[in-house]
Amino acid sequence: VRTLGELAASGKRVLLRADLNVPIKDGQVTDLTRLERLTPTIRELSNAGAKVIVLSHFDRPKGRRVPEMSLRPVAEALAAVLGRKVGFAADCIGPEAEAAVAAMSPGDVLVLENTRFHPGEEKNDEGFARALAALGDAYVNDAFSAAHRAHASTEAITRLLPAYAGRLMQAELEALGAVLGAPKRPVAAIVGGAKVSTKLDLLGNLVGKVDLLAIGGAMANTFLAARGHAVGKSLEEPDLHDTARGILARAEEQGCTILLPEDVVVARELRAGVETQIVPVTSIPAEAMALDLGPLSTAALLARLGEARSLVWNGPLGAFETPPFDAATVRVAKGAAGLTRAGTLLSVAGGGDTVAALRHAGVLEDFSYVSTAGGAFLEWLEGKTLPGVAALER
Ligand code: 3PG
Repeated sequence: VRTLGELAASGKRVLLRADLNVPIKDGQVTDLTRLERLTPTIRELSNAGAKVIVLSHFDRPKGRRVPEMSLRPVAEALAAVLGRKVGFAADCIGPEAEAAVAAMSPGDVLVLENTRFHPGEEKNDEGFARALAALGDAYVNDAFSAAHRAHASTEAITRLLPAYAGRLMQAELEALGAVLGAPKRPVAAIVGGAKVSTKLDLLGNLVGKVDLLAIGGAMANTFLAARGHAVGKSLEEPDLHDTARGILARAEEQGCTILLPEDVVVARELRAGVETQIVPVTSIPAEAMALDLGPLSTAALLARLGEARSLVWNGPLGAFETPPFDAATVRVAKGAAGLTRAGTLLSVAGGGDTVAALRHAGVLEDFSYVSTAGGAFLEWLEGKTLPGVAALER
């Protein structure tokens, strides 16, 4: 992959594919993380004298112009984050975009309207990609979090312009490579979240790569039930018991230790302040549901992390949005952060809920790397080739 250092950007019109798909409420961006992560690439290009033309999708307008899905408020937020003027063009191709680009001076930053307002974007259409490419002299992709999409602005365009990875894309690829490419061992994975069904491929890939796989969240209930434990009213997926047993068997064949909860925190309902009880997984009451790992399970996981040299984490260990069921997630997050600060653990985390959970635990900055990618992070954990990355490697 060619990186920014190899691009002589001065005076060039650089099309920068960013991921400006940020959460918005009442016209205000509510989480600036993705924008903040983008600033090093924008500053570097702008300081080098490039005309920085930012391309991105926003939400899922399905090829139509949906005014509520305009990137205009995001361009304003980006200007505030950068502390500088950022232009906006109300279309990403055609006369309006062309005029806005023609009016740029070296160092200027311009955001073009949502690429998904055009059906050609998601169709990876060559003609649409050509219309985009006509606006630039070089292409930089800094949108790892959109790299699982083979769309015109992430894939087709790389066949039309010299293509480079931006600094965020580069950091993301380096962090992910460090934890699953050629990691320091033992390497541990923590996988949590609600459903096994959404993480089957991920679990299947990880058992072949990591030395320890800790399973938490409601998806652990499916594994416990598959092992013959009664899980009461816990969320679980009865259809997946065979699949879960298959994953456990494969892990054993491949020398991957699976860590399942030995005790859990249960309650009659998921509600803040509800009465709770800590029980071994062998005696979950019929009317109760497991909502968090218990203290023994948490301590066991922390002890394993103490031996590990690398960690990849996706998904919370309990219903962390509803205290006290955040306890295990917070303790393990703090433990992993401490080991990272001490220099014994390389810690990489990603996925929407995971970022929220680490922020809740107050350790977002202490991990070696936290990816802001959701679907792309999961597909990468599944071992899939991401088209946006493959296109840069070509
Ligand atoms: C994301 O937020 O995960 C990316 O921007 C991709 O969005 P998408 O799932 O709509 O393609």
